[in-house]
Amino acid sequence: MIANPIDSWAPSYLTFSSNMKHDKLVFYMQNIRSLKESDRDDVLEIAKNTWDGHDYLPYFFDGWLKDKNSHTAAIEHNGRVISLANLRVIENGRTGWMEGLRVHPDYRGKGLASIITKHVVDIAKEIKVERIRYTTATDNQSSLHLGEMVGMERKFDLAFYWHENPHEIVWRTPENTLREVTPTQLLPSLSESGILPHNVIIYDWKALDATPEGLVKIGLTSKFWIQTEANTIKSFSLGFPRDDKSGQMWCFTIYASDEAGFLEQFSHHLNQASEAKCDVIFGIFSTNFVNTFYALDWVRHHEDDTMTLTLLERIL
Ligand SMILES: CC(C)(COP(=O)(O)OP(=O)(O)OC[C@H]1O[C@@H](n2cnc3c(N)ncnc32)[C@H](O)[C@@H]1OP(=O)(O)O)[C@@H](O)C(=O)NCCC(=O)NCCS
Repeated sequence: MIANPIDSWAPSYLTFSSNMKHDKLVFYMQNIRSLKESDRDDVLEIAKNTWDGHDYLPYFFDGWLKDKNSHTAAIEHNGRVISLANLRVIENGRTGWMEGLRVHPDYRGKGLASIITKHVVDIAKEIKVERIRYTTATDNQSSLHLGEMVGMERKFDLAFYWHENPHEIVWRTPENTLREVTPTQLLPSLSESGILPHNVIIYDWKALDATPEGLVKIGLTSKFWIQTEANTIKSFSLGFPRDDKSGQMWCFTIYASDEAGFLEQFSHHLNQASEAKCDVIFGIFSTNFVNTFYALDWVRHHEDDTMTLTLLERIL
């Protein structure tokens, strides 16, 4: 049984949720439940109203319901789900991955995300994972605040870039020294290369440690490419297509020790996106290369923008 969170943190929430009636919040806290199949329409409605509809929830909802390692949480109001989140246990039970925290736009700013975040942390403690983690856009102040509220710390930031119609980008590097590799071929040299901050691989909005198991898991859906010099990995990337509101999205992450490696990997992923006929690209890379990125003519021409994402963690 999860301990009733009201006992441990009622005093603090009373101060931050003054615009929703206390009794109502207590009711929500005591009636959090798991998601179920019949919540689909409510969840889709929330997703439709989040990030202009570019929310990944519609593509993950079914998987969460079937997954015995997913611990979903939902708050209902007048028979409709108005807030949800998921805690997915990964890395052989070591990590509780927090994802999909949403509040319906009509109910934001009333303390619901605080309630559900606390609840998810309580689940994580109850099932005894070693740590909880999640990623969020660094400019998502309320999301960062919620993580910090439950004792999480910012571990590192990475830049991300999202662009529709990648086939319109004609820029490419002349070089092609990349080689596709299997997860096994990345061991142990990827970790030893020192190009992964904290030895963590970020892919899409997810993260796994670069262990043999982690690489195999990511390799189930992603392809890997490396560039080597004297048997040392100079740059590494992964890429995979996934569904998005705009069509197919090519997601990729690049880790590189220098600008040339970064640019060659970036160019390669533009090609991959075209070959996979993707309508959108979503690329993640070190903030060290943001200036390199802005120096590209086509980026200036399109006035494109990069943002950053942050990995947060709490050791339990
Ligand atoms: C992020 C989101 C879940 C927050 O839901 P919410 O119900 O409005 O959040 P709450 O009312 O529980 O409170 C959020 C906390 O962030 C704080 N906050 C809000 N904006 C803030 C800002 N700009 N800077 C710092 N803190 C901020 C609030 O004050 C509150 O903290 P407090 O209780 O200590 O005062 C909701 O806006 C949402 O669904 N957004 C879209 C999806 C998303 O961004 N998900 C999270 C990351 S993937």
